Amino acid sequence: MTSADMTNKVKRPAHVPASLVYDFDYNSDPEYCRDPHARAADLARNAPPMFWTPYNGGHWMFQSYEAVSEALRDYAAFSSEHFSPEAFAAMMAEIPEEERIPAPVPICIDPPLHAKLRGPLYSTFSPKSVLARESGIRALAERLIDGIAGKGRCEFQHDVSDIYPVEIFLGMFGLPVEKEREYREMAKRHLSVISPDLAENMIMMKNIASVMRDTIVERRDNLKDDIISLLWSLELEGEPMNLDLMLSYCVILFIAGLDTVVNALGFGVRHLATDLALQRELRAKPQLIPDASEELLRRYSFVAPIRIMKKDSTFRGVQLLQGERVMMFIPSASVDPKTYRDPTVFDMRRERLSHMAFGAGPHVCLGSHLARLELNVMYQTILLRLPEFRLDPERPPQFHGSIIAGPTSIHLVWGG
Ligand code: HEM
Repeated sequence: MTSADMTNKVKRPAHVPASLVYDFDYNSDPEYCRDPHARAADLARNAPPMFWTPYNGGHWMFQSYEAVSEALRDYAAFSSEHFSPEAFAAMMAEIPEEERIPAPVPICIDPPLHAKLRGPLYSTFSPKSVLARESGIRALAERLIDGIAGKGRCEFQHDVSDIYPVEIFLGMFGLPVEKEREYREMAKRHLSVISPDLAENMIMMKNIASVMRDTIVERRDNLKDDIISLLWSLELEGEPMNLDLMLSYCVILFIAGLDTVVNALGFGVRHLATDLALQRELRAKPQLIPDASEELLRRYSFVAPIRIMKKDSTFRGVQLLQGERVMMFIPSASVDPKTYRDPTVFDMRRERLSHMAFGAGPHVCLGSHLARLELNVMYQTILLRLPEFRLDPERPPQFHGSIIAGPTSIHLVWGG
């Protein structure tokens, strides 16, 4: 199915009750694209906790906290395998090594194989190994903010958010910095962890792999102090690492780790720019920044993973058929009034600061420690080095929808 086909509305299947149909197109719903979190809160209030939308080929949307949380953990019914790993491996075996497409592991693999493939990545992104990168990350944040401080204005996504995680990634992976622009372009083009269109995903992953391949191959015989070298030195249940898996890991980390941080930062900074009392409080008490950062992740959750029904099931009274797609709409689950009191209010002192912004169950985000460090360091740096900043009244923020919603532009002004 192509992207164009997917946006088309399809007819309601016979097993879907009319009461559970609600029109929502995550790619182009005008209100979602205008302000994703206003629309997510509207859905949380007004649409059924689990509904079927005729858009994008027709699919289910789960949006209550309980339904999303339970389904993300129920991998036996809700599969991440958008295609069978065996069929994929058989297809790749037919293709010459240099033309192979990396498999999206571990994100598109179900347990029990998932645990085996996720295992090697744990040590790489553990709190300890991530903290070892803090001074480099802080130096980069300071360089970026100092670069805009004297200008009195910036478009934050272009001037800061788009650059920050890409440079961190290149540094951590030991990839050549002169390819930074190329990586930034790729990161901008590929706006989702995994698109429902398999062909699009394959091309995207092949493009990313082709840019990284030379460094990955070179590092195999020449280990250095970077993540590619670390991954080469790991074993997979006693087996040495192989090139196919290395490409898969590097590509998925690129896809999952860049755009997400770009968007989280944009949403966070947009909130800070509209909440001057919060800016003042955090400047006076920077020790509160980690709690503020958590609450920003909850309030502005933006990832909506997709699962495929592995078999016909009845889930919370709703009949789902094998092969149907279910979007786990975390942006609404994060403002579910049954779970959070005054859910649309930003409150870093709320009793329940825990949230599902990083997912739940076996696929819960592997990069959450790194993401939190990147976000905290950037918020600390902005609040320390920029005077009070606001949204530019002449150029309001722009957003986009999709599986990963995000800001397209956030114009800020300060001083004067
Ligand atoms: C604020 C930033 C981030 C957010 C909100 C976020 C969110 C998520 C979510 C919701 C999932 C679950 C997807 C699913 O269930 O299908 C996920 C998975 C994943 N994330 Fe993140 N992520 C962020 C940053 C990062 C970073 C910085 C990295 C790595 C460098 C990363 C690597 C991954 C990987 C590898 C997975 C797949 C894990 C698996 O399948 O076992 N993420 N992320």
